[in-house]
Amino acid sequence: MEEEKKKMTFQLLLSVLTAVIGSLQFGYNTGVINAPQKIIQSFYNETWFDRYSEPIPESALTSLWSISVAIFSVGGIFGSFSVGLFVNRFGRRNSMLFVNVLAFVSAALMGFSKMAASWEMLIIGRFVVGLYSGLSTGFVPMYVGEVSPTSLRGAMGTLHQLGIVIGILIAQVFGLDMILGNAELWPFLLSFTFIPALLQCVMLPFCPESPRYLLIIRNEENKAKSALKKLRGTTDVSADMQEMKEESRQMMREKKVNILELLTSPLYRQPLVIAVVLQLSQQLSGINAVFYFSTSIFETAGVKQPVYATIGAGVVNTAFTVVSLFLVERAGRRSLHLTGLMGMAVSAVLMTIAQALQVQVPWMSYMSIIAIFAFVAFFEIGPGPIPWFIVAELFSQGPRPSAFAVAGFCNWTANFIVGMCFQYVANLCGAYVFIIFTVLLLIFFVFTYFKVPETKGRTFDEISAGFQHTAPGIEKASPEEMNSLGADSEL
Ligand code: GLC
Repeated sequence: MEEEKKKMTFQLLLSVLTAVIGSLQFGYNTGVINAPQKIIQSFYNETWFDRYSEPIPESALTSLWSISVAIFSVGGIFGSFSVGLFVNRFGRRNSMLFVNVLAFVSAALMGFSKMAASWEMLIIGRFVVGLYSGLSTGFVPMYVGEVSPTSLRGAMGTLHQLGIVIGILIAQVFGLDMILGNAELWPFLLSFTFIPALLQCVMLPFCPESPRYLLIIRNEENKAKSALKKLRGTTDVSADMQEMKEESRQMMREKKVNILELLTSPLYRQPLVIAVVLQLSQQLSGINAVFYFSTSIFETAGVKQPVYATIGAGVVNTAFTVVSLFLVERAGRRSLHLTGLMGMAVSAVLMTIAQALQVQVPWMSYMSIIAIFAFVAFFEIGPGPIPWFIVAELFSQGPRPSAFAVAGFCNWTANFIVGMCFQYVANLCGAYVFIIFTVLLLIFFVFTYFKVPETKGRTFDEISAGFQHTAPGIEKASPEEMNSLGADSEL
């Protein structure tokens, strides 16, 4: 299939950048709780003292803190699973607009928690912003995938991840004690989230609704056409319309697919397994062990200024997401994902060696820093950005919202598991904890090698048609068709 080159337009860039403000919020709230841990813990301690006239017991403080951190991903699990309730009813753009209410509510809850002497408000605020983030991890990649032309879909999709990593970096920098991470200003640090929300509310009305939603779900051909004209910057949008109608015709046959049907139908088994395993490969790679606990990992590795090493990891993270942005339409999703997984596995081994030898060989602390930076860099080459946007590519319009819900649910659940368990497992395994991730990474590498097709340069319709030919009970794909999809075997 020839790859049509389409140019970037101002309207497309504006729409995608506005959407990924939602990704920035997700990243910001992932990273924000790391640096000011000690300060917020002393607020918990003082509040406890005021209420019960005794200092907070160590175990109560640990539990309250773990809940404060992890409740965010619990919100994410609920949010991501609810994506389907919104996107077809209100449209992609309006869904993004409405959920900003959650960002405002959480900013208020967290921002006033100190004044109200209530850790409950902070915890509920984290849950609410988790809900927002879970919804965003569905809305944003879906909208971005649907408004982008085929030849730019991977690069635009990577902007979701870029939004996330910039959010993490801003949170790390603002969290320094000379900026907002101190006893007076931490409520501002947490409530900062209302500024991007405001910005997105102002900008979204200038972005068109997804033309795919307008045509395929609403059957409003004229509106779809005018949205497309704006996005493509040309009046001749017949090729895109043609492609969307093809997808629409396909959907007439398969109709809207709810989550239960998605999980049980053999038609979707192959893309669903791929989507879910890719989400797991992202989270169980161990990346958030670094982003939630880097400061203490660096401390254990003998690094003198762990907070700055953490910011270094944030910088490397951002830089390599930009690298991936330029590679993804050249090298393709499959090879980048494979490279990323293998690179992470090797880095994890290096990190283990460095930590194991750290007592005997003092310069091993530098090796730990390099290994963690490499781990993060390889993550962003493939496993960071690709799982998020590949879901839109693997499914046609009918099952797409349900697929986002299931994939998001798996992603957030795995995120929660790593967040909750890492510290306990690290205490148990010491320097060898990253070996667990190495093993998992190698398993994901093998899976990707054998099962994941290349989606670069293919229309949504071509991709899902390739899968349907391979589903059990449906006519078999010819070897050429399978090869052209890059899938080496059936699931
Ligand atoms: C991905 C993950 C997220 C992680 C981030 C790190 O977006 O989904 O959990 O924190 O990458 O860059």
